[in-house]
Amino acid sequence: MFISKRPAGWKTFRLALCALVLVPLVSPLAFCRQTGGSPSPNGAAIFNRRCAKCHGEQGQGISAIVSIAGPNIQAVHNPGRAMMAVETGPGHMPSFVNVLSVPEIRAVSYYVTQHLAVIPLQGGNLAEGGTLFRTHCAACHRTAARGGALAFTGINAPSLANYSAPLVAGAIRWGPGPMPAFPPSVLSDEQLNSIVKYVTFVQHPPDPGGNSLGYCGPVAEGFAGWIGVLVLVIFTIWIEKGGRG
Ligand code: HEC
Ligand code: HEC
Repeated sequence: MFISKRPAGWKTFRLALCALVLVPLVSPLAFCRQTGGSPSPNGAAIFNRRCAKCHGEQGQGISAIVSIAGPNIQAVHNPGRAMMAVETGPGHMPSFVNVLSVPEIRAVSYYVTQHLAVIPLQGGNLAEGGTLFRTHCAACHRTAARGGALAFTGINAPSLANYSAPLVAGAIRWGPGPMPAFPPSVLSDEQLNSIVKYVTFVQHPPDPGGNSLGYCGPVAEGFAGWIGVLVLVIFTIWIEKGGRG
């Protein structure tokens, strides 16, 4: 019979095939589950106690003129991104891994993205962003990639090469230090997003696509998926051999 004439490696092949199909489907769920679920600790209380002294009570940012300061985080919409910041402590921000429990980190991250993130971060037009950047920002930041000296105040406007999209959006509304704030009456949400689009474009001109804003992006998931496939294939081969290695 045809069925019984299957080659010896058929079982291994079939298992590997299943793994190939299933793992890329399951791995994004496994990854994103860390950021899901309903948090029980009080995120607002944790934020006011631990974060507000640097970021302001509404996450609006505190100017660098005072010794402890943090940027406007009102455009951080991704809880995974906020958790990453709380855990790793980017720049001058301390890490909170030894200070807050995992549920607390989750709760404060959700508080940031659900209650403080009031600056929309989507849409925008690249070409319009270039024009607006030259009108509103280039006088001080010259080009988005290099920054420039402010002759009249003696304070350097930083290079924007390393600022994430949420921090650029936040800075526009906030106006840290000598930088003017640009309220919605001056730059609409749409115009703000055009500038953010332009700045992130200049940072990575040949970006082939994908969503650099999320920590659950397709590339990382695909990669994790393929590692999973490799492990399963090796495992099935090992089982096939009778589990004796
Ligand atoms: C000592 C000051 C300080 C404290 C306290 C602090 N931060 Fe920050 N935070 C910063 C600075 C500075 C940055 C900008 C880091 C950089 O240069 O990318 C930042 C960045 C961030 C970002 C943006 C990361 C990004 O690029 O998307 C988030 C979100 C954030 N902080 C959340 C928090 C939360 C939540 C807490 C409280 C648990 C907290 N921070 C406490 C100073 C602070
Ligand atoms: C009058 C000069 C001036 C103009 C105009 C200006 N900036 Fe700035 N910008 C500054 C200075 C100075 C700083 C540094 C502030 C500090 O360190 O306290 C800064 C800081 C920043 C930062 C870093 C914020 C942070 O988290 O530390 C970003 C992002 C930024 N500007 C983007 C922009 C964009 C986008 C525009 C145009 C909409 C713009 N700036 C217009 C002078 C300016």
